[in-house]
Amino acid sequence: METIEFEHPVARSILTKLRDRQTPPDEFRKLSYRLGFMLAVEATRNLGTLPLPVETPMEKTFGEECAEYPILLPVMRAGLGLLAPFQELLPESPVAFIAMKRDEKTGEAEWLYDSIQNLQGRDIIILDPMLATAGTARSVIDYVLDKGAESITLISVVAAPEGIYRLRNYDKLTFITVSVDRELDENWFILPGLGDFGDRLYKGNQH
Ligand code: PRP
Ligand code: URA
Repeated sequence: METIEFEHPVARSILTKLRDRQTPPDEFRKLSYRLGFMLAVEATRNLGTLPLPVETPMEKTFGEECAEYPILLPVMRAGLGLLAPFQELLPESPVAFIAMKRDEKTGEAEWLYDSIQNLQGRDIIILDPMLATAGTARSVIDYVLDKGAESITLISVVAAPEGIYRLRNYDKLTFITVSVDRELDENWFILPGLGDFGDRLYKGNQH
């Protein structure tokens, strides 16, 4: 596995606002979008291109076009918060879905749904902003490899060192995160973290 800690002052300042418990859901969603767009640029840095002839107002020349678009795979719920910005950058990319839920007591991830077909030879970008124990990520990566994926990029916002360690043996994996946080607590939540990403996107304001 290659690990990339996405180093950017704007990304760090967005993450600080995401961490802030006072940030309301609508703001949290907007910030996720902005950060997601930055991560999409980083994740597609090495996409292959083909030469493309183009005629400018001045003369004919050669430009480039992307050779093949990666398949986007958001892990529901929280991964949906990153889907729109990735689609904004990669409108041609197919999207598959997967839903998993961690058991609050055991921390084990349970499989709920997926729409994944044959992935033979394809590059996959998995969207899941939180990497805690890596139970969810490992299930998804194993499944995607089993379906024939050629390469996998896992996009995270906040990751625990324990989870990163458990991904170390996947040689087809590039792992991108904005922050490697300190540790997991006794309920497998990331510290300092930002709480439950899915809840903060979708639970609304509880009064
Ligand atoms: C969260 C998060 C990851 C997972 C990470 O999802 O979005 O998918 O936990 O934890 P892990 O690394 O220990 O597996 P959750 O299962 O809470 O579902 P949600 O996205 O619906 O909130
Ligand atoms: N999932 C979250 O949303 N937050 C955590 O801290 C851990 C898993």
